[in-house]
Amino acid sequence: MHRNQFSPGSTPDASGLACEFSALRSLTEALVAPLSDADATIQSMPDASPAKWHLAHTTWFWETFLLREHAPGYTLHNDRWPFLFNSYYEAEGARIARGARGLLSRPSLEEIFEWRAVVDAAMAPLLADPAHADLIALGIAHEQQHIELLLTDIKHALFQNPLGPAMWDARSSPPALTTAAMGWHQHPGGIAMVGHEGAGFAFDNEGPRHRVLLQPFALADRLVTNGEWDAFISDGGYAKPRLWLADGWAWVQSEHIRAPLYWGEDGTHFTHRGWQQRDPHAPVTHISYYEADAFATWAGARLPTEFEWEVIAAAHDPALGNQLDRASPPLPSGSPGLFGDCWQFTRSAYLPYPGFRVPDGAVGEYNGKFMSGQVVLRGASCATVRGHSRASYRNFFYPHQRWQFTGLRLAKDLI
Ligand code: AVJ
Ligand code: FE
Repeated sequence: MHRNQFSPGSTPDASGLACEFSALRSLTEALVAPLSDADATIQSMPDASPAKWHLAHTTWFWETFLLREHAPGYTLHNDRWPFLFNSYYEAEGARIARGARGLLSRPSLEEIFEWRAVVDAAMAPLLADPAHADLIALGIAHEQQHIELLLTDIKHALFQNPLGPAMWDARSSPPALTTAAMGWHQHPGGIAMVGHEGAGFAFDNEGPRHRVLLQPFALADRLVTNGEWDAFISDGGYAKPRLWLADGWAWVQSEHIRAPLYWGEDGTHFTHRGWQQRDPHAPVTHISYYEADAFATWAGARLPTEFEWEVIAAAHDPALGNQLDRASPPLPSGSPGLFGDCWQFTRSAYLPYPGFRVPDGAVGEYNGKFMSGQVVLRGASCATVRGHSRASYRNFFYPHQRWQFTGLRLAKDLI
């Protein structure tokens, strides 16, 4: 679906969209196969949603924005369910509190799967109609985003259990990784073009394409590793206020932060395979913006701006790197390129580009209304469906959040 200079092509034909739709719907379901209804029902924090809710909310999205609007004669599968599975669309009416999603023991997981099958069947004629291609592309990108959220949310939920349950079995021999010396992509600065333009799907927040002014800079050619993070901790990184932004230092103090999320004793961390040894050569993940910024300061570097990142990434294939291809446990492993392993913090606030207009209708609430107080992350992670991201893609989270596969790539001034 996403075309760029690496995968030339025109707008996908109807059979292409139908194939992509059914493969994606199957992938979502394959990912929850290891979960019981109980696993899929619990919610560990308001930021995270139950797996069952993700299965249902993505289905609500298709039913609300495609079937209800464009499938003649379609009647809602259950007219009380939109109250449960509308995430944040004010135009779609009231909904249960975000933090109450984990109290939905009914409908059952089985009933949600039945609903998914009903919606999939009803979607067939729409998938064949080019008039709906743009909205279907949005629905596909939406379900891809929820696959990543489903994986990070269930990890957080299982982590709460003192038994440390694994979603997938431990593997017998993890791959042997190494850490290369950090190299740098240099850029002379100047006027550059950023943002999405042209054929292929992109979210509204990726445009309009526009000019930016860059100073000479360098961007690291790999992510920061667990071993490098160990050195930061050993050097007292979490105990030196001068390394931290004021908001970050307040957060470290109030939340008693001493290491990335999921780090345990004796070099362990919690993964989708349960508690495992951390590989010092693997990219560090589950850090907040505050931690990323403090590390960069400690390392004598800084975080890149989102535009510096994009200008370098434009010369890299977004389909390469450690991303999600099938229902298997995501874990950063240190892959080459600009995409994969971890989303990368930038120092850019998540703001509208010059000329940005919120689209009409309920889907106008998709991205624009969140442009306050969040930071932009670029790239893709090991939990991102391959093909979902691109050089112009803007992910965004609040600076304290770290349950996503977040990491960092250093940058520095060349002046
Ligand atoms: C882009 C990941 C911040 O989590 O709300 C899901 C993705 N948007 N449904 C989010 C999203 C609508 C979004 N993030
Ligand atoms: Fe959503």
